[in-house]
Amino acid sequence: MIIGGGFGGLAAAVELRRHGISDVTVLEKADRVGGVWRDNTYPGAACDVPSSLYSYSFAPNPTWRRRYAEQPDILAYIEELTEREGLTGLVRTGTEVLGAEWDESTGRWQVAARGEDGTTTTYDADLLVSAVGQLSRPHIPRLPGMDQFTGPAFHSAEWDHDVDLDGKRVVVVGTGASAIQFVPHLQRRAAHVTVLQRSAPYVVPKPDRAYSGLHHRAFRRLPLTQTFGRELTRSLSEQLNQALAEQTAFTKAFLLAFKLHLRHQVKDPTLRARLVPDYPVGCKRLLFSNDWYPALSQPNVDVVTDTIAEVTPDGVRTVDGDVHRADVIIYGTGFLATEFLVPMRIRGKDGRDLHDWWAGGAHAYLGMTVPGFPNFFLVYGPNTNLGGSSILSMIECQTGYLGQAASMLADGGVTRVEVRPEVAERFDHEMQERLADSVWTSGCASWYQTPGGRVTTNWPGQVREYRERTETFEPADHLTATEPAVQPVGQP
Ligand SMILES: Cc1cc2nc3c(=O)[nH]c(=O)nc-3n(C[C@H](O)[C@H](O)[C@H](O)COP(=O)(O)OP(=O)(O)OC[C@H]3O[C@@H](n4cnc5c(N)ncnc54)[C@H](O)[C@@H]3O)c2cc1C
Ligand SMILES: NC(=O)c1ccc[n+]([C@@H]2O[C@H](COP(=O)([O-])OP(=O)(O)OC[C@H]3O[C@@H](n4cnc5c(N)ncnc54)[C@H](OP(=O)(O)O)[C@@H]3O)[C@@H](O)[C@H]2O)c1
Repeated sequence: MIIGGGFGGLAAAVELRRHGISDVTVLEKADRVGGVWRDNTYPGAACDVPSSLYSYSFAPNPTWRRRYAEQPDILAYIEELTEREGLTGLVRTGTEVLGAEWDESTGRWQVAARGEDGTTTTYDADLLVSAVGQLSRPHIPRLPGMDQFTGPAFHSAEWDHDVDLDGKRVVVVGTGASAIQFVPHLQRRAAHVTVLQRSAPYVVPKPDRAYSGLHHRAFRRLPLTQTFGRELTRSLSEQLNQALAEQTAFTKAFLLAFKLHLRHQVKDPTLRARLVPDYPVGCKRLLFSNDWYPALSQPNVDVVTDTIAEVTPDGVRTVDGDVHRADVIIYGTGFLATEFLVPMRIRGKDGRDLHDWWAGGAHAYLGMTVPGFPNFFLVYGPNTNLGGSSILSMIECQTGYLGQAASMLADGGVTRVEVRPEVAERFDHEMQERLADSVWTSGCASWYQTPGGRVTTNWPGQVREYRERTETFEPADHLTATEPAVQPVGQP
């Protein structure tokens, strides 16, 4: 049983089937597959990792229209993949998993899910995979006076396409990866855009381009050309990832690229000064855009750095007393990334609640398994996000590992696998030691950290290291049904 029909859940289904496991079900709460690429339909939505790498190695796509595919094309890719891999019949849409409980007597998971008609059904499963993503629950800050606003207000991941933005005054809260993509489109349509910036991002040029007929012919007839592009991108992404996570020679190059880009695109020194970040590069996600700075430089755009005091019936008031009038407010305020698997309730052995276990911040062995939760795997779980490369590379490592474990279960010799507590604990110590010294704890607030300052989303190394460590499912790291039941960590 797989929870979530995004990139992660679908790749898990493909892998399980590849291992001969045919009885696979994917429960998806929305009305179609796609995950973030179904939800984020804001104008300008696109990937920021080249599509040759932001696609699966087992499903290259010779027809990408751009080097960095746009949201409709990525969603179409996911839908085609679902169809081509024969997954359509396995996906139950409109089905939200509420929780799951391990039944020790049967050695199976009882999974409670609510259907579109509101009724709850309990499914049972030998193996449970959670693939609910890190960025699937929008975050809208609770601002004083929000409810008084008389116009439409929505989050970037819940874009209301019925709201006509032409000629309107729009206030945008946030300057992250989403906002830098939709604000340039907004600027061309709206009468006025106020961008409320709490902290400035580092933005560097995006080496995007449209693919020509020649590219498509080459990708089709000589697939090696695309494979070469993928491998080159992989290698460059590793360098980027490393340059952001550690401080390498490339870090200085990105800093220089940022400075030149800003100087070249923003002529007004007052505005330019406002757009300089006050934290080390890499602490928050490095952003790629060619039209963000030009949009902010237009006469119908104001970049406001004063803190929001309250939302009023007709706009937003900042602490300096100015009211920024708005017909529409758009929140580009990110996601509840550190709240892994919320609001589901997962109970493992002896009724152990996953969220109690994670009270200090989510953690899992290799981002995938948790002691006390047998036959349970996470895809894109804690500490598997990257500062600057393709998440799909990480997901492929996870599904490969999961496939090996599932194979062992399906072969019948073993009925349950559960990571050894000491193995998981050792891994977590290693992660936290490495992350404590990382750029992500160097003095900025980001979605990578819990309010307590623990980095729960990011992997501290390279993709290559993660691949090596997940290449082989190691039975010795796990307790199996033939061994005595495991005691919870900290108990005699
Ligand atoms: C706008 C945007 C752009 C991005 N661009 C990039 C990029 O360029 N490169 C990159 O590497 N990464 C990017 N990411 C990160 C992205 O999250 C991952 O690359 C990838 O899509 C994660 O896939 P997933 O299946 O793990 O999660 P998701 O895509 O979030 O899918 C999770 C699925 O689980 C479903 N679900 C959640 N809870 C339940 C429940 N209780 N019951 C049933 N179903 C449930 C959701 O509806 C959703 O369909 C981007 C993220 C966003 C938001
Ligand atoms: N492929 C792409 O190009 C792409 C596009 C979109 C998203 N993504 C992925 O999704 C992640 C999230 O991106 P996102 O832009 O949606 O979210 P985000 O990076 O978390 O940015 C949220 C923005 O909202 C601001 N904000 C939050 N609460 C606020 C408040 N109370 N008052 C004022 N400002 C507030 C933040 O300011 P602070 O920075 O000061 O906190 C930040 O500027 C990205 O990092 C990336 O991984 C990728």
